[in-house]
Formats: sequence, structure tokens, C-alpha cells
Amino acid sequence: MLLNKIPLSLYVHLPWCETQCPYCDFSITTDPVNGNDARLAEAILKDINQSKDLIAGRKFKTIYFGGGTPSLASTKSIKHILDSIKDKFLYKEAEVTLEMNPNDVSGDRIDELLMAGINRISLGIQSYSNKELQALGRNHDRESGIKATRALEGINSTIDLIYGIEKQTPKSFTTNLEKIIQSNINHLSLYQLTIEPNTIFYKKELELPSEEEIEKIELIAKNLLEKNGYKQYEVSSWSKPGYESRHNMNYWQFGDFLGVGPGSHSKISNEERIIRFRKIKPLEGYIQNQRSTDLKNIANNDLDIDLAMNLLRIKNGLQQQDVATTLPASFLKKYQRGVDEGLLLKDRIGATQKGYQFLNETIQLFF
Ligand SMILES: C[S@@+](CC[C@H](N)C(=O)[O-])C[C@H]1O[C@@H](n2cnc3c(N)ncnc32)[C@H](O)[C@@H]1O
Ligand code: SF4
Repeated sequence: MLLNKIPLSLYVHLPWCETQCPYCDFSITTDPVNGNDARLAEAILKDINQSKDLIAGRKFKTIYFGGGTPSLASTKSIKHILDSIKDKFLYKEAEVTLEMNPNDVSGDRIDELLMAGINRISLGIQSYSNKELQALGRNHDRESGIKATRALEGINSTIDLIYGIEKQTPKSFTTNLEKIIQSNINHLSLYQLTIEPNTIFYKKELELPSEEEIEKIELIAKNLLEKNGYKQYEVSSWSKPGYESRHNMNYWQFGDFLGVGPGSHSKISNEERIIRFRKIKPLEGYIQNQRSTDLKNIANNDLDIDLAMNLLRIKNGLQQQDVATTLPASFLKKYQRGVDEGLLLKDRIGATQKGYQFLNETIQLFF
């Protein structure tokens, strides 16, 4: 494994949220920003500079500011991070994405962010129906979602939608999707609502759409999006040709990523081993000391599973030379069994139509 050949991305976690959504289990704080964005930016820069051994002379091919709600941080603090790393650590043509919540979007704010070096916006719409937004406990309404979507016209951007929401019907979902298609947004992430332990939704009786309705919704998405020039390239990701997320593709191709900010995750390879670890979660603790925790060596069986869980998400697979790491013999042996069973592709690394339809079962081949 040649380290300088493994592409490296940067994930920057900005944890602020106005309110805690009852379905969300991300590492967030609802404490007001109150100037702490500048302090966190300094801690993040310190963290990057202390990670030189992990970066090992490479430059970041993509950066993703995720959250939390990164758009609650000031443009000044985001610009400060980008300005401080761009010469030394960043490819000129890097994809630089920032997640925004609808209430923070305006034409002026977008202009400011583009000037600061952001070149892709990810907007958390979730739904355009007031009923569904209320069911999700969101702090924005249909009107502010529509306004924010309009502000993104002509900007390289992506929208997050959730389906399988309480009170959602195939008809109301179709209306959501049509809004995005009309707006000419070139990328979409479509997530089925998952009920995560340690969330308010986990403890609540919810009247979620039936399995049958979910299947209907998924079929509507497929038909409507394909008819309008979007292609599914990953389990939850749809894009017009050439607008696939380069940052996420690096995760799924098993590239490296350095996570900075409280609670962020990293995966780094070197000549001897592949490791995953995360930064401590408390904001103040991280600002004081950018400590890593939960370090795991990924080897043998764990590596086979990790590879399968990432690579097989890519629809229609990829050429073996596009996998960021050398595939171990044990992985290839299990892979061949999948080929024999008609679940995995013969000429590429990826799942067949049948294997993709039952992806969780297909991944079991690697356990
Ligand atoms: C980390 S969130 C940050 C985005 C932004 N703060 C927002 O809420 O719009 C990224 C995306 O994950 C999705 N998400 C979060 N929790 C989810 C859940 N329990 N089920 C399905 N999707 C979820 C949402 O679509 C959200 O936009
Ligand atoms: S879904 Fe977004 S806004 Fe809501 S709590 Fe999670 S990160 Fe914050």
C-alpha cells in the first residue's frame, strides 16, 4: 500500500444547532455560538497542524463542513480555517462543501461563503410540507425551505430529503421531489427516517408509513428521478452526470479522511496499518485539548467487513484500480463466493442488481 497514493479528505465538524431535532443522534450542542466559533476554528487549526504524521505530506482533495449546523458559524471563522490551510494542505481544485439549514440561507450569505472558498452547498430541507416538518420537529417551515432552495439556483448544491416521516403519503412525497426537480438542483440525498437509540423518537409511539407505502415511495423516487436525468450512484445519493459528491465517493472508495472538530471520525492508512478513531465529543473539552479516542486497528476480518460496507454501496460498482487500497486475499476469496451466488459483479467490484436489492444480506458474505 503506497501511502502517498491514497487520497485524503478533510471532515470539519461544527456542532451548533438552534434546536435538537427529535430523530437526530449526531454530536451537537444547542448552546448558542456566542463567539465560540472563533475559538473552535483555532482548535481545529491546531488539530490539523498536530496531525502532520497522519496527513503524511498529502493534500486534501475535498473538505466537508458538516454538523450540527455549520451555517450557524460565522463566515469569518469558516474563511479563517480555509485561508490558513489552503496553501499548504489543499488542492486548488478541491471540492469544499458546507451544510446549511434553510433559516441561515440568503443570497448575500451564499455570496459571502463562495467568496470565502466554499464551492458546494448541502441544504437540509428534509421536506417541503409543513405537516411533515412539524412531525420531524424542524425549526423551519415550507416557506423558508422554498426561499432557501430558490437562493441555491445556479449554485453547485445538494439537498437532503427524509422519507418515511409520520403523516407522509406517497402523494406528499411526490410533491417534495417535484419541488427539487423544478429547482434544477443537481444532487440529492434521500434518507429513510431511521429511529436511532438515544433519541426522542426512540421513546415515542410513532405512526410511520407502512412497509408497503415505503416501497411505493422508493419506486416513485426511482421513476421520477430517472425520468428527470438523475442517476442513483449510491444507496442514498442521486445526481445529474458529473455532480456526484467527490467527498463521499472518497469514503466509499476507501480513501482516507481526517476528521477535526468535536466528535468527528477519521480513517487513516499507513504502511503498517489502517486505523479508525474519533475526537472527544464535548465542545469545551475539544477546544482545550483535541484528544483522540476509540482508536481501532482495522485488520483481517474487520477489514473485509469495512471494505464491503463501503465499496458495495457504490451502485454498479467500480474498477479494482479505483479502490483506494489493495484488496486483501481474504476479501477477494469471500468476494468470489458472492460472484458464484450471483450477488456480486464479476468484472468490477460491486453488487449485482439482486445483491444491491438485498445489500445488508450481501454484506453478510464478508462476516
Ligand atoms: C448531520 S445532518 C446535518 C444537516 C443539517 N443540520 C440539517 O439538519 O439540515 C445531515 C443529514 O442527515 C439526515 N439525518 C439525520 N438524522 C437522520 C435520521 N435519524 N434518519 C434519516 N436521516 C437523518 C438529514 O437528512 C440531515 O440533513
Ligand atoms: S438534524 Fe441537523 S439541525 Fe437537527 S439536530 Fe441534527 S444536525 Fe442539528
